Amino acid sequence: MSGLDDLTAQFETELLQARDARALEELRVRFVGKKGLLTAQFKELGMLSTAERPARGAELNLLKEKINQGLDGQLEVLRQKQWSKPTLDLTLPGRSSEIGRLHPLVQVEERVKSIFRSMGFTVETGPEIETPYYNFTALNTPEWHPARDEADTFYIDKEHLLRTETSPVQIRVLERGKLPVRMIAPGRVYRKDKPDPTHFPVFHQVEGLYVDHGVTFADLKGTLLTFYRQLFGSDTKLRFRPHYFPFTEPSAEVDASCFLCKGSGCRVCKDKGWLEMGGSGMVDPAVLSGVGIDPEEWTGFAFGLGIERTAMIWYGVDDIRLFYENDLRFLRQF
Ligand code: DAH
Repeated sequence: MSGLDDLTAQFETELLQARDARALEELRVRFVGKKGLLTAQFKELGMLSTAERPARGAELNLLKEKINQGLDGQLEVLRQKQWSKPTLDLTLPGRSSEIGRLHPLVQVEERVKSIFRSMGFTVETGPEIETPYYNFTALNTPEWHPARDEADTFYIDKEHLLRTETSPVQIRVLERGKLPVRMIAPGRVYRKDKPDPTHFPVFHQVEGLYVDHGVTFADLKGTLLTFYRQLFGSDTKLRFRPHYFPFTEPSAEVDASCFLCKGSGCRVCKDKGWLEMGGSGMVDPAVLSGVGIDPEEWTGFAFGLGIERTAMIWYGVDDIRLFYENDLRFLRQF
């Protein structure tokens, strides 16, 4: 009656080591399969005497049953374990989805558009590839003007250039011949400027134009004051400094009182109390007559504001190049 204790012990050890249903099946085959260890014992029964055989047979049957029960029981244990294991690990940190946002320059442009729309201005656009006629000649810019120089302007060929300002949109809208006109035109402009903290070869402007019967400089002042009070706060003041632009007469540069220090001087206004916002003036009669509009009957004002400049002041950004580098660490702040 030898060997059965060892066989039993061997089975019990291996049963506890079986980690899954496949391991259990392998175990079953190894012990009670056709060529299994226990099956071999059954085959040896024939060699025993008739007296010995019944007892040995009963012993083997008992072990066989024990093995089968052990395998079934363990399979059930494993099954239970598998079902109670959570398929979702609720302790894992969540996978957050990133929400995009508008570029700071777009945000400023949208704000500017919404303020002017509320004052009855339409929003117009024009081509970025312009002709010297629209970019210079129709805007009363003399042949000798330095802006026409190849050193300052990107020419594609003699008849095409990248617009240096949004002012040509004035001409394109006036050419439609539908008056009065009250519009703004935001967009990209290009100049051969070497990049530095305040220059970049591409930047954005917003052009403004109002042509109607009896438009005066007071209308220009009132419109820009209303605009800047909505942008920077209701206590904002404006200052107009005489200047020269070919397409306006008289012309003025526009300063807004610093929205941060209210004029007493701080880091935003570099202790000046004022912020330079852009150019403006009364549309030069030569520009109107150039597009077939009678300057005796119609008058108008125009202005051009820098988007980057406004965004830099508003957000406290001290280098224009940051807007064009697409560094997410910068962009995520807005
Ligand atoms: N086009 C000018 C520039 O880029 C800005 C400007 C000045 C536009 C006066 C105007 C204006 O419409 O009236 O420097």
